[in-house]
Amino acid sequence: MPVTFTLNGTAQTVDLPPDMPLLWALRDGLNLTGTKFGCGVAACGACTVHLNGTAVRSCQTALADVEGATVVTIEGLGTPTALHAIQAAWADAQVAQCGYCQSGQIMQAAALLATTPSPTDAEIDAAMEGNLCRCGTYPRIRAAIHDAAKRLGGV
Ligand code: FES
Ligand code: FES
Repeated sequence: MPVTFTLNGTAQTVDLPPDMPLLWALRDGLNLTGTKFGCGVAACGACTVHLNGTAVRSCQTALADVEGATVVTIEGLGTPTALHAIQAAWADAQVAQCGYCQSGQIMQAAALLATTPSPTDAEIDAAMEGNLCRCGTYPRIRAAIHDAAKRLGGV
């Protein structure tokens, strides 16, 4: 049975198995490859997207669970010519090393800043602890989140 949801601001209907992980539907069904596969068991954060404004692991979210919901992926946050403030902060801080984990990191950070506009270091660490980076970019991630908070009007 097709699943209909709002994806990056546009109504989307996909006719894929309802028990398929959202990650596969995004990457293989809809060709949105910015969301990455890392572990497949909700242990790394590479596949993080927003479901009704909350950061979720798309590898552990069934397609059926997004029926009628709003999903935002890294492709919906900003574009190369119109970066979201968080992406601009990331670029200026040159956060990425290999880059593989970074779309998940940015989506997790975006969800944090939506609820906590001026996070402390401790709040950043708590929110981001499930997003792993084998390149160890954590100090730059934290700095970029503080910068993004300022760009978005936090202090
Ligand atoms: S691929 Fe989903 S948390 Fe690692
Ligand atoms: S930048 Fe390489 S895994 Fe995070």
